[in-house]
Amino acid sequence: MKTIIEPFRIKSVEAIAMTTRDQRQRYASEAHFNLFALDSENVLIDLLTDSGTSSMSADQRAAVMRGDESYAGSPSFDRFEAAVKHLMPFRHVIPTHQGRAAERILFSIATKPGQHVPNNTHFDTTRANVEAQGTHPVDLVVPESLHLDSDGPFKGNMDIDRLQAFIADVGPAAVPLCMLTLTNNAAGGQPVSMENIRATKDVCARHGIPLFIDACRFAENAYFIKLREPGYADVPVTDIVREMFSHADGCTMSAKKDGLVNMGGWLALNDDAWAAECGNLLILTEGFPTYGGLAGRDLEAIAVGLAEVVNEDYLTYRLAPPDTWAVISSRPGSPSSARSAGTRSISTPARFCPISRHFDIPAKPSPSSFTFTAASAAAKSAR
Ligand SMILES: Cc1ncc(COP(=O)(O)O)c(C=O)c1O
Repeated sequence: MKTIIEPFRIKSVEAIAMTTRDQRQRYASEAHFNLFALDSENVLIDLLTDSGTSSMSADQRAAVMRGDESYAGSPSFDRFEAAVKHLMPFRHVIPTHQGRAAERILFSIATKPGQHVPNNTHFDTTRANVEAQGTHPVDLVVPESLHLDSDGPFKGNMDIDRLQAFIADVGPAAVPLCMLTLTNNAAGGQPVSMENIRATKDVCARHGIPLFIDACRFAENAYFIKLREPGYADVPVTDIVREMFSHADGCTMSAKKDGLVNMGGWLALNDDAWAAECGNLLILTEGFPTYGGLAGRDLEAIAVGLAEVVNEDYLTYRLAPPDTWAVISSRPGSPSSARSAGTRSISTPARFCPISRHFDIPAKPSPSSFTFTAASAAAKSAR
């Protein structure tokens, strides 16, 4: 197994409480074995999520001090907007307090009750926001996504045949937009290939259906394309990212992931009429369009985070923990097997613990983000 040298220096650390096995058993039992009910200060190694857990780099902290908190016309918004458009060249960028707010605004404007939104796999907040409009979320991920032992490089892909069949079945008028989630979080964080993004766009374009990307882990997805898809090995990640978004009509984003900040998000899109309606809805619940649900300092931190997240030394380091897990789990005799994914590796608890039956403990995605998020700030400060 290759050793990865951390591409950063650590300037600041936060102490965590060491716990004993007995204490951990008690905390888990008191929380009824529900990870969401634990007090975070009792958690020694936090595998719950990567969302918002990224440390800030020295440059981000410096940028925070530049935050302009004016209600309207803040230059912090200009820097945020320019950083987003550099990677995701959409005409309109609408800041929100996090990804789910962007989803709610988009689906409120774009969908009607009874319509359908296909996706490779909906993340749970996306699914909930689609359903909240009376619209049906439909997951059309490739079948190998569901087979832990299969070794495909892009197990997050949309199943293009099923997408075509689905649109033919319900009719294009019943599909107000289609989504692709990069990486495919709810399907084990597996990536989506450029070929698949292009093919999805082709199908959508043929039927006049806009394609939106759920962009949460766009940099990670781009790096997988560089590593695994023929023709991209020598293409800079920034160019891969720009190509990914060139095939889409818009995106929703949680900056708590690949924005490398603790809070934030946005909705970006090309359609002027939809953008105007979304902007109005934004003012109703999030804030004026030059800050959305965010402070000026948050916008500054995102602008810097977006420049830092496409650093390839950082991405190499970031993918190391899941890769290591995949190597361990694919050894002969290992109780688990998984194609490495970015945020997660999937294991089957029943194979680790033969006395458990799989209906007692269904397959559990284990985010390996704890390793990279704890260190990401320092990683960035070295850039
Ligand atoms: C793929 C994906 N989409 C959307 C979201 C929602 O983002 P937020 O938590 O910022 O609302 C998440 C959060 O984990 C996610 O992973």
